Amino acid sequence: MAVFVVDHPLVRHKLGLLRKHDLSTSSFRALASEVSLLLTYEATKDLTTEPKTIRGWAGKVEVEEIKGKKITVVPILRAGLGLMDGVLDMIPGAKVSVVGFYRNEETLQPVQYYVKLAKHMKHRMALILDPMLATGGTLTATIELLKQAGCTQIRGIFLVAAPEGIARVEAAHPDVDIYTASVDDGLDENGYILPGLGDAGDKIFGTK
Ligand code: URA
Repeated sequence: MAVFVVDHPLVRHKLGLLRKHDLSTSSFRALASEVSLLLTYEATKDLTTEPKTIRGWAGKVEVEEIKGKKITVVPILRAGLGLMDGVLDMIPGAKVSVVGFYRNEETLQPVQYYVKLAKHMKHRMALILDPMLATGGTLTATIELLKQAGCTQIRGIFLVAAPEGIARVEAAHPDVDIYTASVDDGLDENGYILPGLGDAGDKIFGTK
């Protein structure tokens, strides 16, 4: 498994703004989208292209076209929806596969309550979207679901990741790569990432 911390001044700057305690909902939403766009740029930089001849304004011209696997983005409900626009700005043709989990408060295990995947998952690269990679429980469950659907190339895009979550996913799914703006210090006793962003879902949806 590889963890790519996208080291770019724009990403570092926007992440700094996202961490401000009194950021408005609209600013948080806009910045989350902008950072997700920049992370997508990195997460897709090894896609292969093939030459194609088209008719340009002055006659034939050789261009390049992305080859092979098509992409599906997989926002995890609900906070993952906050990264979707930025990713789709970069990959407008991507199909969207939505998954939802809640946590069983007795077993603490993620329980799937919604799944709607794109067709032909085994021919697609999956880009999982969640602002926060915290304990890794939901991410692990999502990866298992995608693998059962035939996906063989899976990447995750997160604004911020915790070392605990990375370790858990790495142990279970070493073939999955992670793209993030930051690997933070760790989790607090309630499973929040420190210094983190707080509750990213509440901040994106303005529910706090
Ligand atoms: N989910 C969040 O929204 N924030 C965290 O810090 C951890 C999980």
